[in-house]
Amino acid sequence: MIVAIDGPAGTGKGTIASLVSRRLNFTYIDTGAMYRCVALQMIRDGIGLDADIQKIKELLNRVKITFKNIEDKQHVFLNGEDVSELIRTPQINEIVSPVSAIKEIRIKLVELQRELGAEGDIIMEGRDITTVVFPNAEVKIYLTADAEERAQRRYKELIEKGVETTYEETLESINKRDYNDMHKEMGALQIAEGAEVVDTTHMSIEEVYEEVKRIIEGKR
Ligand code: DC
Repeated sequence: MIVAIDGPAGTGKGTIASLVSRRLNFTYIDTGAMYRCVALQMIRDGIGLDADIQKIKELLNRVKITFKNIEDKQHVFLNGEDVSELIRTPQINEIVSPVSAIKEIRIKLVELQRELGAEGDIIMEGRDITTVVFPNAEVKIYLTADAEERAQRRYKELIEKGVETTYEETLESINKRDYNDMHKEMGALQIAEGAEVVDTTHMSIEEVYEEVKRIIEGKR
């Protein structure tokens, strides 16, 4: 069974997918982490957003992204290095959406995501999973929440990690990313046909989990 979840930044897609993965025995694939890995490699190699396509294609050939569960938490590896923390900095947040708008990068990552989803029970979350990667998934969910609530959640997360930022900065970054994610030429965030919309603004994590579980069980 494939459970596909899309939605803007900070709606709790990762948290929910991770809970479903542990409690209902699904393999969790965080596709945002894959775009983040490519963004990190671009920074490391000094390749800018306006680099020529050949350079980007070469970079994509050098990048190997894998996932591994360590003590119930999913870790992301870029060419064997655990980059789970390094890909979640404000610097990466800033460039990841424009990086994900580059067509060659999308083509390559969508192909990889389809391969990863080929076997077993999969829960995959991102921006174009219900529309492009697996439009025929058995379960399609669009998670959403007010931007202010999402910014509040992200701000709290960043402060807990010791990142210096303000609520206003976080809200601005979320709004900018929403706009970019929704206006991409390819793989733009939108509500897929047949997707169930869950607004998490006034819901706790457990309430969202129960709702998602109900939707999954209804399709089993
Ligand atoms: O889910 P996230 O915030 O970690 O995703 C990071 C960025 O990657 C997000 O701004 C948009 C992009 N992305 C995408 O374009 N397609 C996906 N399937 C997942 C993420």
